Amino acid sequence: MSIVKPIPKFSRPAGPLHGTVTVPGDKSISHRALLFGALATGTTRIHGLLEAEDVVNTAKSVTALGAPAAKVDGHWQVKGRGVGGLSKPAGPLDFGNSGTGVRLMMGVLAGHDFPVEMIGDASLSRRPMGRVLNPLKEMGLDVLGEGGDKLPLTVRGSANLLPFEYELPVPSAQVKSAILLAGLHAAGETTVIEKEATRDHTERMLRFFGAEVAAKPDSDGRTRITVTGNATLQGREVRVPADPSSAAFLVAAAVIVPGSDVTIEGVLVNPTRTGFYDTLREMGADVTLENQRDEGGEPVADIRARHSKLKGVTVPPERAPSMIDEYPMLACLAAFATGETVMQGLAELRVKESDRLAATAAGLEANGVKTLIEGDTLIVTGTGGPVAGGGTVETHMDHRIAMAFLTMGLATEMPVTVDDTAIIATSFPEFIGLMESLGAEFGDAG
Ligand code: S3P
Repeated sequence: MSIVKPIPKFSRPAGPLHGTVTVPGDKSISHRALLFGALATGTTRIHGLLEAEDVVNTAKSVTALGAPAAKVDGHWQVKGRGVGGLSKPAGPLDFGNSGTGVRLMMGVLAGHDFPVEMIGDASLSRRPMGRVLNPLKEMGLDVLGEGGDKLPLTVRGSANLLPFEYELPVPSAQVKSAILLAGLHAAGETTVIEKEATRDHTERMLRFFGAEVAAKPDSDGRTRITVTGNATLQGREVRVPADPSSAAFLVAAAVIVPGSDVTIEGVLVNPTRTGFYDTLREMGADVTLENQRDEGGEPVADIRARHSKLKGVTVPPERAPSMIDEYPMLACLAAFATGETVMQGLAELRVKESDRLAATAAGLEANGVKTLIEGDTLIVTGTGGPVAGGGTVETHMDHRIAMAFLTMGLATEMPVTVDDTAIIATSFPEFIGLMESLGAEFGDAG
């Protein structure tokens, strides 16, 4: 486990941001392309894979499990071993900062009868794993040693996994995906029931690889997602669209910096991921989706954002899964809006890379913005005009906290400092460079 030295930086009020750019590939789709490629027969070629630390750790893990993933002639290739065909790694698998990497891999390992030690950084080692391990244990996964809810953990799967039916107690695509991945290895049908729709990239991509996956509404308005076990996946050519969660920072910057006009090309606009953009439009932001098209089984569009006056809104709890990673940025935007922005149903933010509810509120308060946390609701009182800034934000090893506050600092009266920007490399290493190419300014702090 490597310890990276923190790199503090500040952002300062910038002139108008202008330009047309692309952001790197979607993180969720990148993890899945590597994992499903490892479980397929034949070679999977991945174009536009996100080359950030989280995804590179997944690539290293599948390689250690006998399915080599490497960059060849400008794109990534995975040599698949077939469902249930991976082999025992020589040492522990290190997932760094990535909840998606480790939790989806638990589903994969559930179908393999050998022990694997799974480790991660300090942030990942604080996050709950029981939400994935408990249903997987019902299917036949063993957690060895003292076990528990947190990494480090050693798991041992089974070659005789049982099919399972499970209603998600929390709206989590990671939990859903882990169970569906285990279900590929089981003898029979495995069903996950979800009350609130979460991102559906696993369902879409498993079908693309040739698995049988059905999603049907039930009479209570829930969705039943069923995968047929003893599956065979076929290696494919995958194109990864640009990540809407990374694009969100550039869009937000354009909305708050006066005179800006920015376009981000080829962004994933799957409706399970676009809650942030819907909310921005409700707040009065000039954000449009242009040139909508389909690429590799996912909808994409160019997103154009221009400086806008914002008004506070209420964001209902049922929208949370479709913008779960965007709340820190939205809360920072809300500081510039007139009136209160009320964000409801944020319990899941407590178990992200940091306690994002607390980290977001603390960062805003440090920069002169009034906030209130009531249960799982966050209320931000906007100024409708200038926002003070001038504070230092603790990132708590959370890339999205770092990027949200650096973005906010482009439009505050005084610079905003974040105590660590090294962590941004887990999801969006190009963040600072891309922002600078649009006209943003950053400096070294500390
Ligand atoms: C992800 C699901 C979400 C999200 C994470 C990526 C995925 O987590 O926050 O960044 O790729 O499935 P939860 O499933 O915990 O909500």
